[in-house]
Order: sequence, then C-alpha cells, then structure tokens
Amino acid sequence: MLATLWLLSLSLPTLWAQKLISCAYKSLCQQALVSGNDVVLQCDYPKALWYFSSILGEDPFLLSSMPHIKKLPGSSLQLTNPQPSQTGLYHCQDNDNALVVEYEVDFQDATALHVTHESLGQEPLQNETLRLGGHVLVFTHWEPWQDCNRCGGPGERKRLGYCYIGEPQEKPMPCWLYLRAEKARHSRMRPELQVEACLVPCDHVKEINQPYFIFDIYQLGKLTNNMWLTCPLASIYR
Ligand SMILES: *[C@@H]1O[C@H](CO)[C@@H](O)[C@H](O)[C@H]1NC(C)=O
Repeated sequence: MLATLWLLSLSLPTLWAQKLISCAYKSLCQQALVSGNDVVLQCDYPKALWYFSSILGEDPFLLSSMPHIKKLPGSSLQLTNPQPSQTGLYHCQDNDNALVVEYEVDFQDATALHVTHESLGQEPLQNETLRLGGHVLVFTHWEPWQDCNRCGGPGERKRLGYCYIGEPQEKPMPCWLYLRAEKARHSRMRPELQVEACLVPCDHVKEINQPYFIFDIYQLGKLTNNMWLTCPLASIYR
C-alpha cells in the first residue's frame, strides 16, 4: 500500500509577528497556544523576575535567560519555539516579591494538530464526553476566523482551535491545564486547524488580519515511524 503522505503547512517564522499575550495587573490569565509558535508574555515592570512551575506540581523556579527563553527589555518574557513540556504557570513578580501578573499557558502539541478543510467536506473533531473522575466534555474552543488570504477572487481562510475540557457548571479550561499531572491520553485531545474557501471584495482601507502560524506535519503511513520535517516558507495553501 502506498504510504500516505501529508505535507502540510506553515508560514513564515514569526520573526516580526510573534503573538503577544497580555493580562491585567495582578491577574491570572489562562491561555491555550500551539507549540512551536513564538510568544511573548507581557509583564510591564522594570527588573521583574519570572518564575515557572510546570503542571506536574514541582516548586517554581527562577527563569534566567536560556537560548529559548529571553527576558526582553521592560521585563516581558519571550519564548521561542515553546514545547508542550513548557506548559505551566509563568509568574512575574516585582522586587518586593509582589505579583505583577501570572499566565497559565497550555502549549498544545503542534505535531498532533487536526487539520480539516471545510470546503472539502472534512469534519472537525466532534465533542466527546469522557470519564475522568466524573464526566467531562472535551471540545474545541475556536479562535475567530482569520481574514481571507486573497481578495477579489477565491481565497482561503483559517482558524485555530484549542482542546478544552468542561465540567458541568464550571468554566472550561485548556485540556492540559485541566489534566495537570493526570496521565489521561485520548485521541480527542489535540488542537485543530480549520480551513475554508472564502471570496471577499477588495477593500484597500482594511488591514488584513492573517497572523502567521507555524506547524509541520509530515507523516509516512501508519506502519512506519513518523518523520518530522521543517520546511520554512512552504505551504499547500498558496
Ligand atoms: C461542543 O461543546 C461546546 C462547549 O460546550 C459547545 O459550545 C459547542 O456548541 C458544542 N458543539 C457541538 C457540535 O455540539
């Protein structure tokens, strides 16, 4: 049988367009993101300190500059190519140990991304109820659709969705922030990308909102081992 090959994706590395996450002073914000995409966590406090604790519950440790983690001038934290293992609590405090801002970030695995093209009749993942202690609902929390990539002719637009878990009467949470150290693995638990055809007139006044997003999925059949390939600038959607 022929090996199935999907070569999907990507866009320009986010050199100038990394995602900026911000949260109100002294607040805790939860955020799901897709791994492999650079992000900046905002903390506007000169000489602030950043601590990190993973979802496995170990003690927070001070983040010092590492190749993939950089404190920017002004104290915001830049994470380059963040991985699912970096899911956890990012705590920014001032030099009196007072909280400035906290982020609980779930870096969902880009290599498990479920990609569907609506206009080709491909279905996104269905909601599923799982037993994890009690019954919980696993569903995709979608970002808004991005703008169409072309105007005045057929184009495509995309949106990202993150795995969320909801308990009855509770505010849903990104899956791995909900699960914490619990080792629940389920094929429903993955981020999604949905693409659909679009046709919009050209409006030169409007700025196009089409953030770049990187993911690489290169899979050879089910029986062979998976292979990952990074191919900057390639896309089947151009
Ligand atoms: C899946 O669950 C979410 C969250 O409760 C809900 O908003 C959404 O409409 C559901 N989708 C379907 C297809 O039932």
